[in-house]
Amino acid sequence: MIDGKKVLFSGMQATGNLTLGNYLGALKNWLTLSDEYECFYSVVDLHSITVRQEPAELRKRARNLLTLYIAAGLDPKKNCIYYQSHVSGHSQLAWILNCFTYMGELNRMTQFKDKAAKHTDNINAGLFTYPVLMAADILLFQSDVVPVGKDQLQHLEITRDIAQRFNGIYGEVFTVPEPYIGKTGAKIMSLQDPLKKMSKSDENPNASILLMDDPDTVIRKFKRAVTDSDACICYRDEQPGIKNLLDIYCTCTNKSTAEAVKEFEGKGYGEFKLAVGEAVVAVLKPVQEEFSRLSKDKAYIDGVIKENAQKADYYANKTLRKVEKKIGFPERIR
Ligand code: TRP
Repeated sequence: MIDGKKVLFSGMQATGNLTLGNYLGALKNWLTLSDEYECFYSVVDLHSITVRQEPAELRKRARNLLTLYIAAGLDPKKNCIYYQSHVSGHSQLAWILNCFTYMGELNRMTQFKDKAAKHTDNINAGLFTYPVLMAADILLFQSDVVPVGKDQLQHLEITRDIAQRFNGIYGEVFTVPEPYIGKTGAKIMSLQDPLKKMSKSDENPNASILLMDDPDTVIRKFKRAVTDSDACICYRDEQPGIKNLLDIYCTCTNKSTAEAVKEFEGKGYGEFKLAVGEAVVAVLKPVQEEFSRLSKDKAYIDGVIKENAQKADYYANKTLRKVEKKIGFPERIR
């Protein structure tokens, strides 16, 4: 608890480009969370180096992601948006938790197995202990809830195991986090294969709308979106392409499915796809304009980075001192 509010933590990697799916499915919902939770959103650059990165590129993408979160509407006074590498407590707690995590547990992590198979030339120890660093991120702030996708649930589970193990030995040190199951946003599917989730790593560029796509690109991608030959703008599982387009349209316009279906009754797919594209452009444009404005305001972004790192550092150190004392490290002399 911080100031009577539960703590929410989430980390995001600055790899790949954010998609419309990330925005409508997650980010847009986060904007409302800061009233209820004390929110920490970390750009997890320590995690990024488990895979080889080009230094200048990593630095640029990390800053862009941080800026984009603010551009999308996360108020940096209410949400602590910061770089993981600026708060040394992450690494320190990760080391400690490494000593409370078993090789056998880490061997079972499916993401490790997948990534090791993908990067056979660089299966480093960091890739193996990646979940421990993630546990450190979460436990460092005594987080109550963590919004995560399905692919990260196993990591949250191991975080809970580590926290409970530690608490079992030393008493109640860590808050045991829960996955955040909130009002979930629409699940946005690929425009080329509507049975697959829209993903930033999709190889087909027409499959996903990127948050930074310009209007022409957005419209073009929607024009090419896969539909069907039913010639009916109906909301049903048998027409996954149309269903996905309706979901996107409704989330962007805040209309109900029934309203949208009525609006497009008797209309052709071409006209419908154009309307969906325009609705998306209307949502993305202000975010892109704000991003471009903020990107030029170096002093402001630098200020946010500095202030939020200090805030995160303060809470991180509170937990770390408690942990160090429990384990038996000598007290710091001031
Ligand atoms: N591993 C997460 C991902 O790739 C990112 C992450 C790092 C994270 N630390 C976290 C997510 C802590 C939630 C909480 O998506």
